[in-house]
Amino acid sequence: MDRYNFRKVAIEAALKAGGYIKRNLGKARDIRYKGEINIVTEIDKKAEDIIVSEIKKVYPKHSFIAEEDIYAKNDLDFTWIIDPLDGTTNFIHSFPFFCVSVSLMRQGSIVVGAVYDPMRDELFHAERGKGAFLNRQRICVSKLSDIKKAMVATGFAYNVKKAKNNNVNNFINFLKASQAVRRAGSAALDMCYVGCGRFDGFWELYLHPWDTAAASLIVEEAGGKVTKFDGSEYKIFDKETLATNSKLHSCMVKILSK
Ligand code: IPD
Ligand code: CA
Ligand code: CA
Repeated sequence: MDRYNFRKVAIEAALKAGGYIKRNLGKARDIRYKGEINIVTEIDKKAEDIIVSEIKKVYPKHSFIAEEDIYAKNDLDFTWIIDPLDGTTNFIHSFPFFCVSVSLMRQGSIVVGAVYDPMRDELFHAERGKGAFLNRQRICVSKLSDIKKAMVATGFAYNVKKAKNNNVNNFINFLKASQAVRRAGSAALDMCYVGCGRFDGFWELYLHPWDTAAASLIVEEAGGKVTKFDGSEYKIFDKETLATNSKLHSCMVKILSK
């Protein structure tokens, strides 16, 4: 099967899981703590099952890296990277900013990404070399080059209360440098907002491949740039993610070095 079908499968799985999540807003009953503030619910797990079984119907031999339970090693040339619910804390508080993220890594390169926000019915998707889209509309990053006029976004990892490098210093520096900083609570969606120009830049520490795989492709295909904090090449297992509209990249690298 060709990449068109990879994208179609990713999109259909994300839409199906997103529909399930939306129908279950306010209905999570089994709330468990993976850490002091890191939550998982039965909805995250069921959404993951929905995605994995949709993909397996078409590609039974592919591998999976999914956030909750499933880590199946099979054909390592094709690995689906899945966050069934990015923004679980928002979800359990009925704060409507969360998404489903599905991507395919082929021989080490992300080739397809789909990020679906079920509350706004917004589907961000991209295929390597073929541009990025919001629903049927092609998207591109903002053109802003002045940090003073920029709206940037970030997030804080679940180790924020204990980690020495907890991003608070960066947050203060960007508050002082930019027009506004947002912490909306879904890294994948934050990055897609860079892709469509709503945010001009995003940075976060300690993200996981399932948070960034789909969205990093979407940002790049929308004309943006994704690197580590020092501007060097980003890989989805790295612990620093900086995604910008390109024009603000060197300025944001400079601020992150303070
Ligand atoms: C979290 C969200 C949040 C980010 C955390 C992530 P989860 O993912 O993306 O915005 O700040 O670092 O872990 O746990 O809701 O899938
Ligand atoms: Ca996540
Ligand atoms: Ca998650």
